[in-house]
Amino acid sequence: MNKIIIFNWKMNPASAKEAKQLFSSMPKGANGLEIVVAAPFVYLESLIASTSAKEGYGGLRFASQNCFWENQPAGGGAYTGEISPIMLKNLGVEYVIIGHSERRNYIGETDEMINRKVLAALKVGLKVVLCVGEPERVSSGSAKDYIKNQLEKDLSGAGKLKIENSIVAYEPVWALSTTNNGRPDTPEDALEMIKYIRKFLISNFQFLNPMVIYGGSVDSKNIQSFLKYKEIDGALVGGASLKKEEVKKIILNSNYDK
Ligand code: PGA
Repeated sequence: MNKIIIFNWKMNPASAKEAKQLFSSMPKGANGLEIVVAAPFVYLESLIASTSAKEGYGGLRFASQNCFWENQPAGGGAYTGEISPIMLKNLGVEYVIIGHSERRNYIGETDEMINRKVLAALKVGLKVVLCVGEPERVSSGSAKDYIKNQLEKDLSGAGKLKIENSIVAYEPVWALSTTNNGRPDTPEDALEMIKYIRKFLISNFQFLNPMVIYGGSVDSKNIQSFLKYKEIDGALVGGASLKKEEVKKIILNSNYDK
């Protein structure tokens, strides 16, 4: 199975011109690797349009960083300022990140809201990238309890929908580059949690072959140490995804067969 790297641009860059430049500097694809760009909503359409076959960006996929929990016409469309999953699907977006810790913490997204978003996105065939992660560094047992609780709530009712292509991103909040000065979790601890998450998804949500990835201060120097484990299916990269040279090196160093 291919590994996946999701580059989360967060609320960057400030202009469409810069977005285009950042995007064009990315490698167009890599063997054994699926590369996903999670750009802000406002840039997605033009970036997707620029990947027409003639430009040869066949290896790149797109994610949005959020979506709303209703789809038209069921929700009536009366949600000023929101973007529905069906809008994203119709635009050519393949993945949607839901439950990122920055949205949980700064915007106040609750597990209930996240669950509604997950269900709405799955309903229209988007692949969900559900982010989970404990806020503080705690014992392994407490961290697992925390994650179990998040998964139970966030994925409640999802077993009946098409969840098989979705991804869970384990992102310990304390290991994000913005909160921990670029110090990631240890690959061994991340591996242990990822194995736990996979087991939980199989037994509770009937996933056949869940993809579970790691996020938190991933860069070109440490990516190999995570991806070398067959159980770690990929990485969610934040801060480093804005640095053109880093992106190239991350993709290069993700060649875990070497
Ligand atoms: P980071 O962010 O790589 O900057 O730690 C990861 C994320 O927020 O998804």
